[in-house]
Amino acid sequence: MKIVVNGVARTLEVDPQMPLLWALRDHLGVLGPKYGCGVGACGACTVWIGGAPARSCVTALEDVDAPVTTIEGLPAALGAQDLTAVQQAWIDEQVPQCGYCQSGQIMAAAALLRDDPAPSDAAIDEAMSNLCRCGTYPRIRAAIRRAAAMLARASAAGEGAAAPGADQAASETPVAPDAPAAPDAPAAPGAPAAPDAQVAPDAVPSAPGAPAEER
Ligand code: FES
Ligand code: FES
Repeated sequence: MKIVVNGVARTLEVDPQMPLLWALRDHLGVLGPKYGCGVGACGACTVWIGGAPARSCVTALEDVDAPVTTIEGLPAALGAQDLTAVQQAWIDEQVPQCGYCQSGQIMAAAALLRDDPAPSDAAIDEAMSNLCRCGTYPRIRAAIRRAAAMLARASAAGEGAAAPGADQAASETPVAPDAPAAPDAPAAPGAPAAPDAQVAPDAVPSAPGAPAEER
């Protein structure tokens, strides 16, 4: 079967009922999404499917009906040259402790800010259901606030690159083959599937009606 991951079409010869997380990590060498609970409760495995956050540990491959974005492909998906505003804010606020949950946290936060550039506390609480055993929740909230402020300043200045990671107009560029966690990076024993081809730029997911600036 075929899926698109971070702008690259991939072919998998596996059970269609295999969870997407297994396919990403063990067969495609995409290691950003993490295995935590395996039952859809913790969010460590969060990726985007068609631009919407999804828990890849409980999503069967056969149910993946849109391009997949992982944290490795997040900057390209949002049109950033380097880090997204959310990732820069995570660094500025020194959010991670052990870091295990953080790729999932960032994917959830980036989707929130893409759709709601100035989220209320209630909106943050609703969107950020990911768990963190290190208790970084106050820093996560601070980083979301910081990223929102960065995006607001960039928008007010009328220049997408005003803030780090703010050059995030909707992506028109497929993920480069040598992007982080390259598709043919080493994975579990057994040769990882090779990428098939770059897909059309419009295969990179973005939410309908998403504003031009990234989040
Ligand atoms: S590992 Fe998927 S939700 Fe916990
Ligand atoms: S930073 Fe350790 S689990 Fe979240």
